[in-house]
Amino acid sequence: MQSQCVTDGMHPDVPDVPKLPEFLDDAVVAAWSASGAPLVDLLRRARTPGRLTGFRRGGRAAVLVTDPRHVHQVLGVGGDRYVKRSHRARPLIGDGMLTATGEAWRSQRRLFQAMFTGRGIQRWEHHIAAAADRVIGRWAERARRGEPTDIAEDVQFFTVDTIWRSLTDHPLDQETYVDLAAVQDIVAALPADVGGAAALPPEVETALAALDERMHRAITQARGRRTADGAPGGGAPGGGAPDSGTPDGGAPGGGPSVLDRLLGAAETDPAYTDRLIRDELVTLLVAGYESSARTLTWAFVLLDRHPEVMERAAGDARAVEAVLSETLRLYPTGWLLPRQAVADETLDGLRIPAGTDLLVCPYLTHRDPEVWPDPEAFVPERFPVRTPLPPGAYLPFGIGPRACLGTRFAMREMEVLLGGLLDRFTVETTEPVGEPVFGINLRPAGPLYARVRERT
Ligand code: HEM
Repeated sequence: MQSQCVTDGMHPDVPDVPKLPEFLDDAVVAAWSASGAPLVDLLRRARTPGRLTGFRRGGRAAVLVTDPRHVHQVLGVGGDRYVKRSHRARPLIGDGMLTATGEAWRSQRRLFQAMFTGRGIQRWEHHIAAAADRVIGRWAERARRGEPTDIAEDVQFFTVDTIWRSLTDHPLDQETYVDLAAVQDIVAALPADVGGAAALPPEVETALAALDERMHRAITQARGRRTADGAPGGGAPGGGAPDSGTPDGGAPGGGPSVLDRLLGAAETDPAYTDRLIRDELVTLLVAGYESSARTLTWAFVLLDRHPEVMERAAGDARAVEAVLSETLRLYPTGWLLPRQAVADETLDGLRIPAGTDLLVCPYLTHRDPEVWPDPEAFVPERFPVRTPLPPGAYLPFGIGPRACLGTRFAMREMEVLLGGLLDRFTVETTEPVGEPVFGINLRPAGPLYARVRERT
């Protein structure tokens, strides 16, 4: 028996194909499109519990995937058959690990895999601690002066600092921060469907040039140090002083920085040109700082609404971890993970023609009442989960071969900062938080001003 095609029900000119009730009508999509509402509104409307939903958007066939079983089949077991489409940020991140495919991706991922395991990230403990101390110091100063602080900005400085230290073994200075944090403006300015040739506004070109210059200077200096003494660490890319880990600025746990690792690879593998090294650095920066910063911001938004949870989490590392897990359930920053079917496929008895877009939506999956009782409520006590979740039910870091490389790093840095701040300060926002923005990342709009006070 031939399987039905997910797009069949949307062709009114094919009378013998039944129109399935869960299929989103063209008229609904057109009305949504005309309203200028965000994509998440269409997807909320499209979601049919337990089912795939097909629709056409901009002339392309798309399928919304939210049921854990389907998520598992697309990202998990089907990870090689449903692939990423060209990434919007490709002009920025080039051929780095986020956009690479096939053998090039496999070899890039292999190079970093061991560095980002639970054991591997121990080399960066001192970097994370030093970056957290900086923010704690800033808050102590704010508390002393009675001035509000912008939490969104503070946590972003922290996550750019931790990633920069891990890439180069050096702390972040203000000038470097400005150049690195500009990546979000660059990404925002890139056209949604990248042809590669689109002209960018002059200020974005300037920001991109400054970023490239920063990366090339770091590469040149690190290579110079390798040539001079054959040892990782030392020097000061970006103008910062060497960090305090060891006398030579290397990690006290031993092991190279990410940049050293890349330069080492370049000595034996000609694929690692300076261009690819730059692409990998920018990729880790782009992938590595914004999600962690936004998650920390969301955690403070939720804690502000639940002061009793904030009190319980102060001084309790397990409660802090649970707060972060629950924050990532309600606000997974990677709220939409698009894939494309390479060849014709069958999914849950439905035919998926080659080229169909599959929109995996962790944001909606995480709010499935079949899996999460009272799904809209912030209940950190759900974690750690007592009974194993169905595969595909919880995926803030993705699942399958393209799951997040930095999961352990991200959880560790967020635990250290959130735990350190809650131990020492009480926090109260001074202005209402902005609406959720469903862009490439899911973030609250605008700053998050709060008054912080030392605990007595
Ligand atoms: C709360 C913080 C973070 C969240 C929620 C997050 C989430 C994700 C998700 C959902 C994916 C999969 C995307 C997809 O399947 O299309 C991903 C991929 C990735 N993440 Fe993260 N991430 C976080 C932090 C980090 C950090 C700190 C790093 C690096 C230090 C990092 C590096 C990467 C890389 C390199 C990939 C691409 C992996 C590949 O394609 O093989 N992420 N992340």
